[in-house]
Amino acid sequence: MRPENNIESIRKKIEKNLRQLPFMEHATKLASIRGERVYVVGGYIRDLIMGVGKKDIDILVVGDGTGFAVELGKLLGIQEVMVYGNFGTANFKFDDFDLEFVAARKESYNKESRNPEVVPSTFEDDISRRDFTINAIAVSINEDTFGEISDIYNGIDDIFAGIIRTPLEPDLTFDDDPLRIMRALRFASRFNFSFDPGVFEGIKRNAHRLEIVSQERITEEFMKIMATTQPGIGLRLMYETGVMGVVFPEMEKLGGVEQVDEYRHKDVFYHTCEVVDNISRVTEDVWLRFAALVHDIAKPQTKKFVEGTGWTYHGHEEFGARMMKFIFKRMKLPFAKINYVKKLVRLHLRPVAISKEEVTDSAVRRLIVDAGDDLEDLITLCRADITSKNENKVRNILKNYERVMQRVLEVREKDALRAFQSPVRGEEIMSVLDLKPGPQVGVVKTAIEEAILEGIIPNEYEAAFKYMLEVAGKLVK
Ligand code: CTP
Repeated sequence: MRPENNIESIRKKIEKNLRQLPFMEHATKLASIRGERVYVVGGYIRDLIMGVGKKDIDILVVGDGTGFAVELGKLLGIQEVMVYGNFGTANFKFDDFDLEFVAARKESYNKESRNPEVVPSTFEDDISRRDFTINAIAVSINEDTFGEISDIYNGIDDIFAGIIRTPLEPDLTFDDDPLRIMRALRFASRFNFSFDPGVFEGIKRNAHRLEIVSQERITEEFMKIMATTQPGIGLRLMYETGVMGVVFPEMEKLGGVEQVDEYRHKDVFYHTCEVVDNISRVTEDVWLRFAALVHDIAKPQTKKFVEGTGWTYHGHEEFGARMMKFIFKRMKLPFAKINYVKKLVRLHLRPVAISKEEVTDSAVRRLIVDAGDDLEDLITLCRADITSKNENKVRNILKNYERVMQRVLEVREKDALRAFQSPVRGEEIMSVLDLKPGPQVGVVKTAIEEAILEGIIPNEYEAAFKYMLEVAGKLVK
């Protein structure tokens, strides 16, 4: 994603775009009346130069940013302007746009505190305290200089060169707000940009400072990296800068764990990055991507050398699924997603296991039932997990998965298994067998379900009812 570098055409493009924003006429007039210098700055300008549309617009006011926001809000008929006094910022929504106003300021994190201290400053000072040169480009919206670009730190050149650089010394920039380390990784991942060597070293030196940042903010950035087109870029950089060790130590431990296929030694961490990139080509669902990220997470703990077989990772899928509780809790990930991720981790070896030709219908049935509505996602994960460079091997494995899906279709059609449960319900088991609610009802129900899965009886009410009567004598004491 590298746009054409022609400064005059860029200027014209930006000016035209800003002019047609639905609130701009009012904003420009208000800036004249109030006698303040006002700029559009940050991500909106960066993305415009990159040729990407964006709905969040940051407006920098040299003066009283919140006062400007409140007055502009009135002119536009906005009911509610949110003002954050402590931070000197305000925002409101207008049309599709999310406008964020800020007074030129310096923001500084005190070493022990998570909250920034904010003090007013000049335009130059404000710009210099921003995170990256690509985010430090400002465009005037005052009438006399409308569309003039201020690019003190050559951010436009860095956009074209694809480089993440800080306006000031990286140590100072990251010390001001260590979350910027995660932002740097996100921008590198999103745009496929590289780090200026100073930024790379600065991140390495300051990675531990992420410890003072709240987990919610870190996790938000982490998931944004997972949402980029090639999350593997950000993940590798996280690993190589030492950030992974701070943010996601279980992932870092995959580094250096080698698994051997017939052609090469594969490092489990780098293999995982490839898997995540593979899956990201076919899905934007960050939770499916996350499942791909963690599918082998327990390999280090389960690695064992077995004479004659080599290295094994017996049970890593189950162990990995169990690790999710701890990881979701620590990273403050949404618990609504944990069962989905656990399921995919736990089952990720099953499709390979049942791809053999001699596999019985009952094994296929069990996979259908265990994976439920997530079977397609599971197969997507399994396909992405193929990172072999041996084309023949890849073709064979893919063919195997096609066979699995074919078998799944056949069995599903035969049994209508998708929403599987015993066709005879608990209530009926209780009344027919004269049972009180309790474990015995479950025993009978499970026996019916097992019989269907094993193919002993069809997935039909009549057969299930008859089977219940047959086994009741043996099961119910
Ligand atoms: N900024 C900063 N340090 C931060 C966060 C933001 O210097 N930790 C500055 C940057 O100039 C940034 C602007 O504030 O461009 C707006 O921040 P934000 O809206 O969070 O991000 P964007 O850069 O607009 O990009 P995106 O929306 O893609 O996150």
